[in-house]
Amino acid sequence: MSDALRIEGLGKTYRLGFRMRKVVALDALDLRVAEGSVFGFVGPNGAGKSTTIKILVGLVTPSRGRATIFGRPISHPSSRHVVGYLPENPSFHEFLRPLEVLTLMGRLSGMGGRELRARAQEVLELVGLDRAADLTVRKFSKGMVQRLGLAQAILHDPPLLILDEPMSGLDPIGRAEVRDLIVQLGRRGKTIFFSTHILGDVESICDHAGMLLHGELVRQGSLGELLDGSIQSVELRCVGLAEAEFDGLRRAALNAVRGPDCWVLSFRDVDAANAAAARVVSCGGRITALLPHRETLEQSFVRLARAQDSAVPARAQRVG
Ligand SMILES: Nc1ncnc2c1ncn2[C@@H]1O[C@H](COP(=O)(O)OP(=O)(O)OP(=O)(O)O)[C@@H](O)[C@H]1O
Ligand SMILES: [Mg+2]
Repeated sequence: MSDALRIEGLGKTYRLGFRMRKVVALDALDLRVAEGSVFGFVGPNGAGKSTTIKILVGLVTPSRGRATIFGRPISHPSSRHVVGYLPENPSFHEFLRPLEVLTLMGRLSGMGGRELRARAQEVLELVGLDRAADLTVRKFSKGMVQRLGLAQAILHDPPLLILDEPMSGLDPIGRAEVRDLIVQLGRRGKTIFFSTHILGDVESICDHAGMLLHGELVRQGSLGELLDGSIQSVELRCVGLAEAEFDGLRRAALNAVRGPDCWVLSFRDVDAANAAAARVVSCGGRITALLPHRETLEQSFVRLARAQDSAVPARAQRVG
């Protein structure tokens, strides 16, 4: 499968204030997003996610490196025809109604006539704003503005969606709806590249993810790769063991407790748990559960962030 997005050595150094102090927001980013992928771009505040996204859609000029969208260099305006973009803080003319906003956005992207009217109505329904048709944007809640932002991003049915924190400002129901919408769009073959802090969302809807810290990509891969090898411990539950046999197993376990209706033992890895399971069976006991406890993406991210910060504390904000 070809790449929807290819980023090579992309970097951005902002200059701040009278003394033109340097802020390295992004440092030599290499990233590939395959066509049809739902890619979560995660990182804490100030990691450089929005800077990357703004470079991709032509709002910020990179200081170094290059990127292509479906093979077209981002410096070329035609690369933008195939992108739907949701900015971090979408904002629209307050005196317009949602259909008017979409008509304006659609015309700007070359749509018009009956096709635009029908499509605008369709996307309003898709994002759940059809019932707000008579309200002007001034009367919108933050969540409604966010939905309108999503509606304008998908209006022209682009093959690539670049969404800067699409779940931001939404309540739990709104977040679940946007997650479902992303999944739905992914199933229809769209490539979706979105930034977020919410790692649970990445685990539930993405097939690939990249972790950005202080402008550097510290990990990237398929969700399977990112979560693989992350078994923290394996829990073994069993019944039918005599006290003496349980004591024997306890010595090899990280932790062992007697539950109300079974023994619960926790082992360092699968091999240790398997050896204990074999012993349970040979002693006439019965296994009721064998559960691996994996590190979540969030735990893995926090671990990496802490390791990086303690390795190079001065990098929290790299200035020169
Ligand atoms: N226009 C600008 N001028 C100077 N510095 C900037 C500018 N925009 C961003 N920065 C700096 O670049 C770094 C990365 O910012 P960026 O907005 O890309 O982070 P982010 O990952 O999107 O953060 P958040 O999760 O808070 O949205 C930060 O240190 C920020 O202060
Ligand atoms: Mg941002």
